[in-house]
Amino acid sequence: MTTPDYAEKIPNNVSLNEDRRLQRALESWQPNFLSWWESMGPTLPTQDVYLRTAVNVGREGWAQFGHVPMRDYRWGIFLAERDGDRRIAFGAHKGEPAWQKVPGEYRAELQRLIVIQGDTEPASVEQQRNLGATAPSLYDLRNLFQVNVEEGRHLWAMVYLLHAYFGREGREEAEELLHRNSGSEDSPRILGAFNEETPDWLSFYMFTYFTDRDGKYQLGTLKESAFDPLSRTCEFMLKEEAHHMMVGTTGVDRVVERTAQVMVENDTDDVAAHGAIPLPVIQKYINFHYSVSLDLFGGETSTNVANYYTAGLKGRWLEERRKDDHLLASDAMMVDALTDGEIAQTEVAALIGLNTDLRREYIADCAGGVKRWNRILEQAGLPQRLYLPHIAFNRRVGAFAPIEASPAGERLSAGEWEARKGQWLPTDTDKTFVRSLMQPVYQRGKIAAWIAPPRNGINGQPFDYDYVHLI
Ligand SMILES: [Fe+2]
Ligand SMILES: [Fe+2]
Repeated sequence: MTTPDYAEKIPNNVSLNEDRRLQRALESWQPNFLSWWESMGPTLPTQDVYLRTAVNVGREGWAQFGHVPMRDYRWGIFLAERDGDRRIAFGAHKGEPAWQKVPGEYRAELQRLIVIQGDTEPASVEQQRNLGATAPSLYDLRNLFQVNVEEGRHLWAMVYLLHAYFGREGREEAEELLHRNSGSEDSPRILGAFNEETPDWLSFYMFTYFTDRDGKYQLGTLKESAFDPLSRTCEFMLKEEAHHMMVGTTGVDRVVERTAQVMVENDTDDVAAHGAIPLPVIQKYINFHYSVSLDLFGGETSTNVANYYTAGLKGRWLEERRKDDHLLASDAMMVDALTDGEIAQTEVAALIGLNTDLRREYIADCAGGVKRWNRILEQAGLPQRLYLPHIAFNRRVGAFAPIEASPAGERLSAGEWEARKGQWLPTDTDKTFVRSLMQPVYQRGKIAAWIAPPRNGINGQPFDYDYVHLI
């Protein structure tokens, strides 16, 4: 562990200057990254933004706040502190020292896991690139850009691993991460949800709540990896990810709060006429983002994931807190399944059900947001409640992909689904309405009418701070 050197082209705590070849390889990737940022990153021109920059990983503080021009952001490579005694916590290698190099027999699988994670990071920047044009406040605009630069840094984190540990193939994959683009016909991003557009700010909050949260759970499993550099990278990424979760959670809070306020003030559910977002529209956005994010966890059962676990490549969420043998070779679990065409559960070997295990952890976490949002409605004295739709609703991956189900979990024929899906998923009319509200508010301390201001600013600054200087 070295102290980060900010005089270097690439800030890092991995002693990059001791490995000239690696340093040169990353320095030659850097201009490609910057031109990707210029052409696929945020489109709103800005002078500078009040950003948090990761400068170290230590407990005494790892971030520095200040106004910086976004293209001068110091994207760096930071791994959590190394624990010299770290042992593998699960699988066939349990108890052995964590790996500092990639074992030959797991090379292809590890590379694939890193590429898939890496692909999501720039994808979300691409999905969100036009949102600056319609930000509800300078505070929100700043948060968007913070999320964007950190996803850029997460790309750096994965590219570092590819360059440092996977040789020529790793370098080629690092190039590909800049060539695939969200929503592209010819070379789309790897995972479905990362090819959906994020056309408005309600979608942005839902994305950071539901889809970024999938990222949190994936990083959590990679943090358990026997491959120590991957583990340490993910551990540090999770620190940054917490801010993305906060943006999503409080973003939806504030939309619900404003809607509730307008409902009470005008004694009506029909708040659209008053420039707020009706609760049924918020519910449809929840339904959409939650269901596409559930798909990101893959099929209910997976032999690949069982193999990753046994090999020690990818653990469970909070692996070390689990009270079992961490081998799971003789355990069983229930997973969601379609049995005789009905929504049901079936028993499988615990190892092949690990996707389900992770998805359940995620679902329990998602329920926390709904609780918060319902508390806001309750405190406003309103009887309406928001909810998470049934696990079989609107699924395109896994056991329920072949069927259609309502948010309450009743099976529907294809015809019924077609006729009724507009009640549950955002329609073109809903999206057009939400978009019509998206007028930028760039004056300090002002906020759009469809959302409440935040309770706290960033880094102790007030809401009316000059978070962003536009051109
Ligand atoms: Fe990320
Ligand atoms: Fe994120």
